Amino acid sequence: MFSIWMLIKALHILGGTFWLGGAAMIAAFLLPAAKKTGPSAGVFMGHLMRDLKLPLAMNLASWTTLLMGTLLYWRITGGFKQWSLHWPGGIGLLIGVISGVIAFLWGTFIQAPNAQKLGALLVQMQQSPSPELGAKVQAMQKKIYLGAWVGVLFLVLSLIGMTLLH
Ligand code: HEM
Repeated sequence: MFSIWMLIKALHILGGTFWLGGAAMIAAFLLPAAKKTGPSAGVFMGHLMRDLKLPLAMNLASWTTLLMGTLLYWRITGGFKQWSLHWPGGIGLLIGVISGVIAFLWGTFIQAPNAQKLGALLVQMQQSPSPELGAKVQAMQKKIYLGAWVGVLFLVLSLIGMTLLH
């Protein structure tokens, strides 16, 4: 029979799938392609970020996963009271939750501000290019590329942990 929890779980899994899939696509394909194509990548990335609102879609997916996941966790622990630390289910779930929260905090407080800084540097670079500015852009790009893989790593850990539950 249908219950609201089925919908919550479906939204949680859909959000998580979009979040991890999107993060992996960005880290493995979009960012390396942008790096290889140099200045011409700016127009493509600008369209993707501003007009197609990729950051908004990723934020929606991560917030949905986190909020629905918190409700599921509240339910499964009887209102955050009955913690199970049995291997693999309980421990897997806990590892999954911790990794998911780290991925969320990483994306929100490290990656997003760095992406904004890069955007500002690129605008400066168009207005008054200089070798120092070019070096700053490259350093920031490197940080963002590495950071993207850190996020993917925590999301993969989260997914593996979650699936140990059943
Ligand atoms: C961020 C914090 C997260 C919390 C608090 C959380 C919480 C939960 C909970 C409590 C369940 C068990 C639901 C049940 O069986 O009733 C669950 C299942 C699941 N979660 Fe998460 N989750 C989080 C992040 C993620 C992420 C990032 C992903 C994917 C990348 C994900 C994918 C899944 C999947 C696939 C299941 C189903 C596992 C199964 O039934 O075998 N979760 N989650």
